[in-house]
Amino acid sequence: MDLPFDGAISAFYRDSAPDDLRTAIAQANKDDILSPSYPYAREMRRKDYARDMDALQIELVKLQSWARDSGARIAIVFEGRDAAGKGGTIKRFRENLNPRGANVVALSKPSDAEQSQWYFQRYIDHLPSAGEIAFFDRSWYNRGVVEHVFNFCEVAERERFFHQVTPFEQMLVDDGILLFKFWLNVGRGEQLRRFLARESDPLKQWKLSWIDVEGLKRWDDYSAAIKETLTRSHSAQAPWTILRTDDKKRARLAAIRHVLSAIDYTHKDAAAVGAPDPSICGGPEIWDV
Ligand code: ADP
Ligand code: AMP
Ligand code: MLT
Repeated sequence: MDLPFDGAISAFYRDSAPDDLRTAIAQANKDDILSPSYPYAREMRRKDYARDMDALQIELVKLQSWARDSGARIAIVFEGRDAAGKGGTIKRFRENLNPRGANVVALSKPSDAEQSQWYFQRYIDHLPSAGEIAFFDRSWYNRGVVEHVFNFCEVAERERFFHQVTPFEQMLVDDGILLFKFWLNVGRGEQLRRFLARESDPLKQWKLSWIDVEGLKRWDDYSAAIKETLTRSHSAQAPWTILRTDDKKRARLAAIRHVLSAIDYTHKDAAAVGAPDPSICGGPEIWDV
C-alpha cells in the first residue's frame, strides 16, 4: 500500500522517535493511555461513554433551541496540536444539532488578499449571528503557534497579534457573544500513535499534511509557542479551558459539559449535565507538555 508522504510518519517512528515513546507505543494495548502524567491509565469504557454522551446530546439540543429563541450567539474556539482531537470533538457537539445554525469554521491558509488584510478580518465574517453556534476548528490563534513554528509570520506581526487579541476578544464578549476557548492538550506518544493510524488508514489519510510530518520534529518548538500563547492570551473575559485529550471520550464529554454548565438555557437538566472532570478540563495550570 502507498503511504502518504512516502511513509514519513512510520520512518520517524522507526528512526527518530525518542526511545521511551517507541517502547510505550509498541507495548500499549489499544485502550492504554500513553501519557504517564494523564490521570487515568485506560480509556473510559464505551458503555459509560455512550450513556453520558446520549444524555448530553439531549441537553445540546435544548441549548440550540434556547439560542434560537433568545437570539444568543455562541462562539467556541478549538485549538491544539495536530491530531489533538479538535475535529472529532466538534463532530460530537454537532451530531444532533440542526446544522443550519451550528457552523464549523475551518479556514484554510490565508489567500494573498487575506494576507494583506488586518489579521482578524477573515475570522470576523464567521462570527455567529443571533441563534447561531460557531465552532472554530483552529482560529486566529494560528498566529501564536503554527505560523510562528513554521515562520509563516514575522516576529513583529506576532507581537501585534498578542497586543490585539485580548482587546479583540473583549469586544466580542462586550457585544454579548458567549465565547469559549478550548486548548486541546495531547501527549507526544498519543499524537504519534494517531499519526501512525492516519498514515495506514485510507479513510484517515486526508487528515495528514506536510505540516504534521514536519511538526513531528518540532515538538519542543510547539510546546514553547503554546506555553507563551496560553500565558499571553488568558484573560478574565476570555479565559482558556485546557482539555487533556489523550482519552478522546473523556475529553469530548468534558468539553460539552463545560459549555452546558456555563449557560443557563431553558429546561436545563443539571443532573444530566453534571460537571466536567477537573483533572482533564481546567485552567492553564493543567496544561502538560
Ligand atoms: P489541519 O490542522 O487543518 O489539518 P495543517 O496541519 O496542514 O492543517 O495546517 C495547520 C494550520 O496552518 C492550518 O490552519 C493552515 O491553514 C495553516 N497554514 C498552513 N500553511 C500556512 C501558511 N503558508 N501561512 C499561514 N498559515 C498556514
Ligand atoms: P516547560 O518545561 O518550561 O515547558 O514547562 C512546562 C510546564 O509548565 C507544564 O508542565 C505546565 O505545568 C506549565 N505550564 C505551561 N504552560 C503554562 C501556562 N500557560 N500556564 C501555567 N502553567 C503552564
Ligand atoms: C484534530 O484531530 O485535532 C484535528 O481536527 C485534525 C488535525 O489537526 O490533524
